[in-house]
Amino acid sequence: MAAVSRDGTDGWLGASWSAPRPPRPRPSPVPRPQWRTLLQLRRNALSTWGEPAYRELVLAGPFLGRQSLLLNEPAAIKQVLVDKAAAYGRTAATLRILHPMIGDGLFLAEGEAWRFQRRTAAPAFAPKSLGLVATIAARRTAAALDRLAKEGRRIVDLLALFQELALEIAGEALFSQALEPFTRRLRAQLDRYGTRLARPSPLDLALPRGWPSPEELLRRRMGRAWFALVAEIVAERRARGIEAPRDLFDALASARDPETGRGFSERELLDQIATFLIAGHETTALALFWSSYLLGLAPEIQEAVAAEARRSELSPEAAPRAALPVARAVVQEALRLYPPAFTIVREAREPDEVAGHRLAPGDLVVVAPWVLHRHERLWAEPDRFDPRRFLPGAPPVDRFAYLPFGVGPRVCIGAQFALVEASVVLAVLLARHRLELVGPKRVLPVAVVTTHPDRRPAFRLGPRG
Ligand code: HEM
Repeated sequence: MAAVSRDGTDGWLGASWSAPRPPRPRPSPVPRPQWRTLLQLRRNALSTWGEPAYRELVLAGPFLGRQSLLLNEPAAIKQVLVDKAAAYGRTAATLRILHPMIGDGLFLAEGEAWRFQRRTAAPAFAPKSLGLVATIAARRTAAALDRLAKEGRRIVDLLALFQELALEIAGEALFSQALEPFTRRLRAQLDRYGTRLARPSPLDLALPRGWPSPEELLRRRMGRAWFALVAEIVAERRARGIEAPRDLFDALASARDPETGRGFSERELLDQIATFLIAGHETTALALFWSSYLLGLAPEIQEAVAAEARRSELSPEAAPRAALPVARAVVQEALRLYPPAFTIVREAREPDEVAGHRLAPGDLVVVAPWVLHRHERLWAEPDRFDPRRFLPGAPPVDRFAYLPFGVGPRVCIGAQFALVEASVVLAVLLARHRLELVGPKRVLPVAVVTTHPDRRPAFRLGPRG
């Protein structure tokens, strides 16, 4: 084995192997009368962007009577998401699609209510909590792999495995709760929502704020069943009571607004828990899926992750002793090529001028990590899978060209949680197993709420000698 270099990556940064290019995953763009775009948004938003989106820094066009800007220009992105963040808000379509499932929790809240919620939740995501996340992730992954071994299963649907695992890890880390009794029902409801109800209909996109679309009514019905399940989870957590350490549930349940002395109502608390249950696992499971898919195409990079994992003396009882820079770089590169949150959309709340375009209230600004991360002017060989871009010592990536977690005040509160979790899960998995894609290698991304695969490829988990 090569000597371990100062950055802990076996000098891998300078390695001369040629990094693979995954099968071109961009679905071919369709011609663009507006009604086709509306249909494509329902089927797969990724196919609405043609080649100019990956070349131009700003694209402007009409969208259902409003102006819409697609921004790839780092300074313009900073203006909208950071400098003038308060002048932009979530769109009516986002509310129609997500509100029935996450209510007024942290993701959708605005103004003073959002500030209070963010302050309340922040301590649970502070850097000191990440060691616990790593320990839980290592233990839960080892246990899941033991279960598979006991059942003699070698051919596995990794996406399903990661979805359950990420739910278990979020449950234990945030709510000190074993979610296993609820996992099957939680996943069944989320899958039903994801495959059918989450798809935006033309009316979701066209109707003004406050007018319910027919789909929204269906979503609300499903939302009632969903919130009944979330209430069961909360009831179980309360009935058991938890000794220290204080977790996110305790922080939310005991929060008091310093000005009014008011805490969350029962419904508001359920909104928060639903938000963290959904936001806290689906995206991370997808990051793990796409990382595994890319590693299935790149055995040499897999070996590097496995070698690092072995060196880090991973143990199910303790957090990994090293920061796992190679596994982390693989996850970051997977988040570049397949960002689970493929767009960040904002609606202008007041007039503004962005990249030379005048915006009126109601106009749309789209920052699309999917496009931005594959932009020809912002990345060298954008379609190539090359985790070396993210290794310590690599030239820094432009802060506004890489936004898997967004940026500015609404940046993902769980970004570090997700990166630690995904790196540890990947390391524990690869320390034990060689991943091999079974059957056709081509898997295409489909974007509806998140970027998921068009099919669930099977992986063979071979022994690693
Ligand atoms: C790879 C995994 C993840 C990805 C790609 C991701 C992506 C994102 C993005 C892009 C946003 C910002 C959206 C915007 O500005 O409109 C966001 C917000 C958020 N994320 Fe994540 N996320 C991930 C994991 C997590 C985890 C693990 C949690 C919690 C445990 C979480 C909870 C949230 C919440 C609550 C917000 C709303 C924050 C606010 O508006 O203040 N996410 N996420």
